[in-house]
Amino acid sequence: MEFIAKELLEYCENHSQTESELLRELNRQTHLKVMSPRMLSGHLQGRFLALLSKMIQPKYVLEIGTYTGYSALCLAEGLTPHGKLVTIDSNEETNLFARKFFQKSPYAHQIESITGKASEIIPTITTPVNLAFIDADKKAYKHYYEQIIPLLTSGGILIADNVLWSGKVVSDAQDQDTLLIREFNKHVAADTRVDCLMLPVRDGLTIVRKK
Ligand SMILES: C[S@@+](CC[C@H](N)C(=O)[O-])C[C@H]1O[C@@H](n2cnc3c(N)ncnc32)[C@H](O)[C@@H]1O
Repeated sequence: MEFIAKELLEYCENHSQTESELLRELNRQTHLKVMSPRMLSGHLQGRFLALLSKMIQPKYVLEIGTYTGYSALCLAEGLTPHGKLVTIDSNEETNLFARKFFQKSPYAHQIESITGKASEIIPTITTPVNLAFIDADKKAYKHYYEQIIPLLTSGGILIADNVLWSGKVVSDAQDQDTLLIREFNKHVAADTRVDCLMLPVRDGLTIVRKK
């Protein structure tokens, strides 16, 4: 489901910062060689993540769901000089793909790619998180959220992707994924620990700021 007309999306992209050559190549190689390239954040959402990260200037970024590394590279753009980004994904094949691009980037020494189930890795993290991006296994969104909120610094930002679930959140759909995304959205909107904003960017981005 497209949320805005293709022409408008292109107009927005044409009037936003261009993708770096490395991101463009990553995007191209993902479409050529990897299954489900639609999962990649893409130009406009990528620039949004990069700008947000530059505004926050995080010391520590936590990403759940690396895929081929596009969003990780965008989020890394705002890291402080000694900052670090940890990205978790259970798929070793796409992790190997992503790592090749991390190595070619200016953030090679700042990005750590971890292979494993996110719900098992997150509890091993003890560093305070300034910026988190949840973009894996929709069924576990609420669980990831509850695992990450205690790690977030006061004023820290958490972003959750795909919260509109291709528009199914407002349809009659009763499949398990849609029910769980609706439950997650309700949970976040009612959470008094955070300020919360849901934006209709691409497939829906919820942004929360811990009080
Ligand atoms: C939508 S993609 C991430 C896209 C990426 N953030 C981007 O914007 O380019 C979701 C990723 O979550 C990973 N994933 C799914 N279940 C997972 C789990 N339980 N733990 C860790 N990663 C998981 C998948 O392997 C997939 O690569």
